[in-house]
Amino acid sequence: MFSSLLPLAALVAPAFAVVQPLNTTIVGQYGNVPPVYPSPNATGNGWGDAFAKAQSFVSNLTIEEKANMVTGYPGPCVGNIVAIPRLGFSGLCLQDGPLAIRVVDYASVFPAGVSCAATFDRDLIRARGVAMGSEFRGKGAHVALGPVAGPLGRSAYAGRNWEGFSPDPYLTGVAMEETILGIQSTGVQASAKHWIAYEQETQRNPTYDDNGVLIQESVSSNVDDRTLHELYMWPFANAVKAGVASIMCSYNRLNGTYACENSKGLNGLLKEELGFQGYVVSDWGGVHSGMSSIEGGLDMNMPGGLGEYGLYDAPLSYFGGNVTLAVANGTLDITRVDDMITRIMTPYYFLGQDKDFPSVDPSTADLNTFLPRSTWVTDYDLNGTRSRDVRGDHAKLIREMGSASTVLLKNVNNTLPLKAPKSIAVFGNDASEDTQGFYNQVNWEYGTLSVGGGSGTGRLTSLVTPLEAIKAKGALVQQFLNNTLIATSNISDLVNPTPPDVCLVFLKTYAEEGADRLSLDTDWNGNEVVASVAAYCANTVVITHSSGINNLPWADHPNVTAILAGHYPGEQSGNSIVDVLYGVVNPSAKLPYTIALETDDYNGLPTTAVNSTDPNAWQANFDEKLEIDYRYFDAQNISVQYEFGFGLSYTTFEMSDLQIVQNQVAGDETIQPGGKLELWEGLYTVTINVTNTGAVEGAAVPQLYVSIPGAPPKQLRGFEKVNLAAGACSSVDFVLMKRDVSYWDIGVQDWVVADGVGVQVGFSSRDIKLVGAL
Ligand SMILES: *[C@@H]1O[C@H](CO)[C@@H](O)[C@H](O)[C@H]1NC(C)=O
Ligand SMILES: *[C@@H]1O[C@H](CO)[C@@H](O)[C@H](O)[C@H]1NC(C)=O
Ligand SMILES: *[C@@H]1O[C@H](CO)[C@@H](O)[C@H](O)[C@H]1NC(C)=O
Ligand SMILES: *[C@@H]1O[C@H](CO)[C@@H](O)[C@H](O)[C@H]1NC(C)=O
Ligand SMILES: *[C@@H]1O[C@H](CO)[C@@H](O)[C@H](O)[C@H]1NC(C)=O
Ligand SMILES: *[C@@H]1O[C@H](CO)[C@@H](O)[C@H](O)[C@H]1NC(C)=O
Ligand SMILES: *[C@@H]1O[C@H](CO)[C@@H](O)[C@H](O)[C@H]1NC(C)=O
Ligand SMILES: *[C@@H]1O[C@H](CO)[C@@H](O)[C@H](O)[C@H]1NC(C)=O
Ligand SMILES: *[C@@H]1O[C@H](CO)[C@@H](O)[C@H](O)[C@H]1NC(C)=O
Ligand SMILES: *[C@@H]1O[C@H](CO)[C@@H](O)[C@H](O)[C@H]1NC(C)=O
Ligand SMILES: *[C@@H]1O[C@H](CO)[C@@H](O)[C@H](O)[C@H]1NC(C)=O
Ligand SMILES: *[C@@H]1O[C@H](CO)[C@@H](O)[C@H](O)[C@H]1NC(C)=O
Repeated sequence: MFSSLLPLAALVAPAFAVVQPLNTTIVGQYGNVPPVYPSPNATGNGWGDAFAKAQSFVSNLTIEEKANMVTGYPGPCVGNIVAIPRLGFSGLCLQDGPLAIRVVDYASVFPAGVSCAATFDRDLIRARGVAMGSEFRGKGAHVALGPVAGPLGRSAYAGRNWEGFSPDPYLTGVAMEETILGIQSTGVQASAKHWIAYEQETQRNPTYDDNGVLIQESVSSNVDDRTLHELYMWPFANAVKAGVASIMCSYNRLNGTYACENSKGLNGLLKEELGFQGYVVSDWGGVHSGMSSIEGGLDMNMPGGLGEYGLYDAPLSYFGGNVTLAVANGTLDITRVDDMITRIMTPYYFLGQDKDFPSVDPSTADLNTFLPRSTWVTDYDLNGTRSRDVRGDHAKLIREMGSASTVLLKNVNNTLPLKAPKSIAVFGNDASEDTQGFYNQVNWEYGTLSVGGGSGTGRLTSLVTPLEAIKAKGALVQQFLNNTLIATSNISDLVNPTPPDVCLVFLKTYAEEGADRLSLDTDWNGNEVVASVAAYCANTVVITHSSGINNLPWADHPNVTAILAGHYPGEQSGNSIVDVLYGVVNPSAKLPYTIALETDDYNGLPTTAVNSTDPNAWQANFDEKLEIDYRYFDAQNISVQYEFGFGLSYTTFEMSDLQIVQNQVAGDETIQPGGKLELWEGLYTVTINVTNTGAVEGAAVPQLYVSIPGAPPKQLRGFEKVNLAAGACSSVDFVLMKRDVSYWDIGVQDWVVADGVGVQVGFSSRDIKLVGAL
């Protein structure tokens, strides 16, 4: 989805090319996209009699109605399919986004995807999906535009990594599956996005001159077949397996062809190989053709207008009237259009959206600055109750997840949990209230950052800041919120009268859609703020609220006694961090990415600063192949500050007793949603024991990594969060599915079980306790 804050391009449309070339020659070592036509018909596999209902619905439509069913129109929601009252169909309302229903009032703002990943907690991720789904439903939104598995996190700098989960595809895959099952359990459709290899914001869309003439195409992600399968497609396979209703294609090109008209990507990989039965919806303005997109596998054009020329709100479209014309003149086979609508309506019936679905909350129409009423060309039924409060008791879950996603990176001499400090000094512009209004989380200087910006943000109805939650604990609290002042002052001149028991430094790092990060440092002189405070305060605790990876050059400073990575915790931010600081919650989160020692240690940098007039100049070659994040640092044997999977607790754990059992499997090669059935069969069960060896209750996260010859040394293939009382022991089972112990063989074009697979189980990617082999 396109943020309403971003500038729109120029306003002139070129002629409509019905059939574009099936391949676009691209530079470099990567080949053309192989053509895969025709687009496969859905079979409704997995969705019971909903398929027949959808087919019956389609059979009643006129050609004009069919065109409308696959084309968005301006309306109250960020995406709208118009109603067909004649058939009792009240239309579809599509709403952002991955961590909240955005364009409404009185809704919750949940922790971001990166925070979900940091919990390593399937149950919490599922519960968040259920809670979010109920809020979308309560507001009359049929489709929730999330969760996010692309960007995956190839680059530490990518502006939207926090909307997704983790650069590890297994962890992201689990989080996708749990989120989708949660959302869809409430009768709301999820839309897994953005397919595929959408790993940077820079040049994500084509650029045009003032006359609407193309200057340069979107960046092309050039990815080899194995890497595409093992990293970028992997979590989408989980999404399809979970029965996701919809998949959103991305803005970028894949191997030179736009993702939303890439027949290999949509027809071949998604609909054939993964057996996807739902519909492909475009990202907003991601459509650049009519017939090529329809034949390439795109099923729904959003928001419908000719987005690339700024005409998001126009009735003119590559689809719409052009679908009617192309069918009438024989260019487009009506069976393809029927399949598009069948794919759209099957999950609608399967999820029971034809029965008792709440009406669209009229407040969304007033808040929709992207498609204001002045752009509407049709009437909408907005007679329902305005400004319904859909938050329920979700603040409780948000508070719990905020704590459960806060990673304790350093804790010298058990500084934390705090022991009833009488005097606390709070530093940093992330501690307190925003001073300029907090909707859309603009990167204001003052104010705590609870989530990032762009279409993936949430509209806060309420926010608990760290400072107010700390003050509620009753200590003497002094606060210094001006980072410039802190960074340039001798702190002893600020703090009075006696040194505080603890100095809490709150730092933030903003990220948003439409722009990649320019630096991995914390914002607003974060490093200088820490240096200044730590020079004075021997008990300095640093808390970051960040989109993800940060440089932490002060991590080993002797006066920095504790570090907490709080990520983007959502609206209960203050309560969540205070629960961890005071030991109400024992931290159990783990880093869902790696923090390197030096900025220069990261690979997979975004393509930037292309200085060429060649329209095809923006090329991002994924030459690092499988080596992203910890896979890279491990493969290249690079020391890191804090590795993937790392996170401390207020207690300690040990593990023992590795056992590996091989299971009998059927080897069923039938393609079901998610791909061949056998890929999801448990070939091995690995069991370990984990023991809480410390003095307090806490949760451990044993992690299983496989070593596949010819692949990076370790790849996560299992994790489990286990809560244990002090002294308690529990056994943990990891089921290794065929997919988990296989590699994608580009020759046979299939997953092949690897020979000599090693198994390593530990408490992080670099804290391996038990080793075995299959
Ligand atoms: C059909 O598509 C072209 C762009 O190729 C656009 O200029 C035209 O307005 C569209 N027609 C309709 C009826 O939407
Ligand atoms: C791709 O297009 C080029 C130029 O039109 C053509 O020479 C080539 O044969 C095409 N390749 C495929 C695989 O269709
Ligand atoms: C992209 O190009 C690479 C290298 O030629 C090839 O291995 C891969 O299959 C292509 N993928 C797609 C989706 O075209
Ligand atoms: C889809 O099904 C229709 C019949 O409903 C058939 O005519 C058409 O050929 C099928 N398309 C494909 C790609 O199989
Ligand atoms: C479509 O029309 C048939 C009769 O032709 C009817 O039985 C069916 O219920 C209609 N389906 C829908 C979804 O309106
Ligand atoms: C068929 O309709 C499409 C969509 O408007 C148009 O672009 C195309 O030129 C037409 N083709 C023929 C052969 O008339
Ligand atoms: C609902 O709203 C529509 C569009 O504004 C209006 O035409 C219709 O009469 C309303 N229906 C009821 C039941 O109020
Ligand atoms: C931690 O404790 C040790 C032993 O008591 C002490 O020498 C050291 O200075 C302490 N470190 C900090 C940062 O307080
Ligand atoms: C923050 O501190 C700097 C340095 O003392 C000062 O110049 C600036 O005006 C302060 N900002 C605010 C908002 O007080
Ligand atoms: C740590 O804090 C103490 C004050 O308690 C200060 O004297 C010392 O210089 C600080 N250490 C560093 C390395 O800044
Ligand atoms: C871009 O390329 C032109 C022509 O080679 C050169 O004159 C110019 O300095 C380059 N600009 C940048 C920013 O590198
Ligand atoms: C730990 O492992 C051993 C050996 O595998 C097993 O017998 C025992 O029951 C396990 N203990 C627990 C608490 O699971």
